[in-house]
Amino acid sequence: MRYQTKKSFPSDFLWGASTSAYQVEGAYLEDGKSPSIIDMYEHPKDTADFKIASDHYHRYKEDIKLFAEMGMKAYRFSIAWTRIIPDGTGSINEPGVAYYRDMIAECRKYGIEPIVTMYHFDLPYCLEEKGGWNNRDTIDAFVNYAETLFELYGKEVRYWLTINEQNTMILHPGAIGLPKGGKLPTKKELYQQNHHMMLAQARVMKLFHTMVPDGKIGPALNLTAMYPATCKPEDAIAAHNWEAIRCWNFADVPVFGTYHPLAFAYMQDRNIEPEILPGDMDILKGANPDFIAMNYYSTATIAASRNDGSDVAARAGDQQIMLGEEGIYRPEENPYVEKTKYGWVIDPVGFRYTLRKVYERYHLPILVTENGIGAPDILEDGKIHDDYRIDFLEKHLEQMKLAITDGVEMLGYCPWSAIDVVSTHQGYQKRYGFIYVDRDEFDLKEMKRYPKDSYYWYQKVIAENGESL
Ligand code: BG6
Repeated sequence: MRYQTKKSFPSDFLWGASTSAYQVEGAYLEDGKSPSIIDMYEHPKDTADFKIASDHYHRYKEDIKLFAEMGMKAYRFSIAWTRIIPDGTGSINEPGVAYYRDMIAECRKYGIEPIVTMYHFDLPYCLEEKGGWNNRDTIDAFVNYAETLFELYGKEVRYWLTINEQNTMILHPGAIGLPKGGKLPTKKELYQQNHHMMLAQARVMKLFHTMVPDGKIGPALNLTAMYPATCKPEDAIAAHNWEAIRCWNFADVPVFGTYHPLAFAYMQDRNIEPEILPGDMDILKGANPDFIAMNYYSTATIAASRNDGSDVAARAGDQQIMLGEEGIYRPEENPYVEKTKYGWVIDPVGFRYTLRKVYERYHLPILVTENGIGAPDILEDGKIHDDYRIDFLEKHLEQMKLAITDGVEMLGYCPWSAIDVVSTHQGYQKRYGFIYVDRDEFDLKEMKRYPKDSYYWYQKVIAENGESL
C-alpha cells in the first residue's frame, strides 16, 4: 500500500541497541560466576571463544557512555543467571548482583531505559547436568531466578524479556554450540524442553504482573514471514506449514495459552508432541505478555516438500542450521532479494511484512530486539566505513516506518548489536556493532573502542526521531 503521508515514530519510541551477556561480557568465571552451557559446549576452534568476549564486564562504563553519546534511549542486555545464582537454584552471588545493579544505574544516569533479557541461551551448566530443560525441576529453578531478579531490579527495570529465541534453541539447537560428544537432543526431547520452557515462562509472566505491576514483559522470538516459492497451491501450504511450526507455535503459547493447531497436529503425527501433565494447560493460560519482542534478520522462501530425501539443506554458509524437513517444506532461493556475505537473505520489505503479520495475529505492541547485518568490518586509520550496515539499517527503518503507517504499534527498535560481540559461532570475523572492538579472534590487543560510521548515522536518526527516513 502506498500512502500520501507516512506516520511519525512515537515520541517515546525506544531507540536502542542490544547485546547478550555471554557474547559481550567476558569474565566468564569471575566474581563467583559459574559456567553456563555456552562455556561448556563445543564451538568452532578457529574462532574466538566467549571467555573474554568484548570485556564489557570490566568496561561497561566506557561502553554505556558511548551508547549515551550515540543517543541511545534504551539498552537491551541480558543477565547471566550464572552470575546471580551460580548453582542454579541456591544462594545469591552478591558480586554478580552488584554488577547488574551498577550497570542499570549507569544506564539510568544517562536516561537510557534498560531492557533486560532474563535468559539468552546460557543455562547454568550445573542445571544441564541434572537434565537441563528435560527436567521439570528446571521450571521451578527458572521461576525462582525470575523472582530473584524482580525483587532485585523490579523497581529500576520496566521492560523485561523472558527467554531469547526459544524457537532457535528448539528448532536449531546446534546454533548455540554442541554438547560434549556432539550429541544433540532428539526432536521429541526438544519439544518436551519447549513445553517446560513454556510453563516456566507463563509462571514467570504471571508472577511478574503481581510483583512489578507497572512493568512490561514479553517473549523474545526470532520471527520471520515465509514466502511461497510460486503460486502453486502446494508451495503455499508448505510456506504456511513452516511459518506455523517455526514462528506461530512459539508465540501462540504465551499469548493464547495454546499450541498452534497445525503445529500440534504435526507434532502428534510424528510422535514428538510433549507430555502434557494435568494442570499444565491451565498454567499456560492467562500469561498475558504486554508486548511481543521480535528478532528479525531475514525471510525464507518455501517450496513444497519433494519428500525424496532431498528436502533438508544447511542454511547458506551455516552448517549448524539445517533447513527443510521431509514431508513438510523445502527451502528455495528467492531471486528478488540480496544476501549478506554469510548467505543471510537481506529483505527490508519482508521486515514490514513480518511486522504486519505479527501485529495482525497478536494485537500486541512490538519491540524489535534484534535486526542487523553481520560483516567482516575493517579498521583503517581509526575508522570503520560500514556503509553496508547503514544501508541495511536505513532500509529496514524505512520499512518499519511504513509498518507504523500500516497501523502496527511499535514500542522500539534495538538492533544487533550495540557494540561488537562474539557471533554465536563465527567469532569476530562477523561483526554487528555500532562500535568496533579492536581485537582479533585470538589476539586481544587493547580492545580499544572505535565508533563506526553507522554509529554517527544512527546518532542522527535518533536525534531527529527518524523523521527524515
Ligand atoms: C540471534 C541471537 O539469533 O542472532 C544472537 O539472538 C546472535 O545471540 C544473532 O548473535 C546473530 O547471529 P550470529 O550467528 O551471526 O551471531
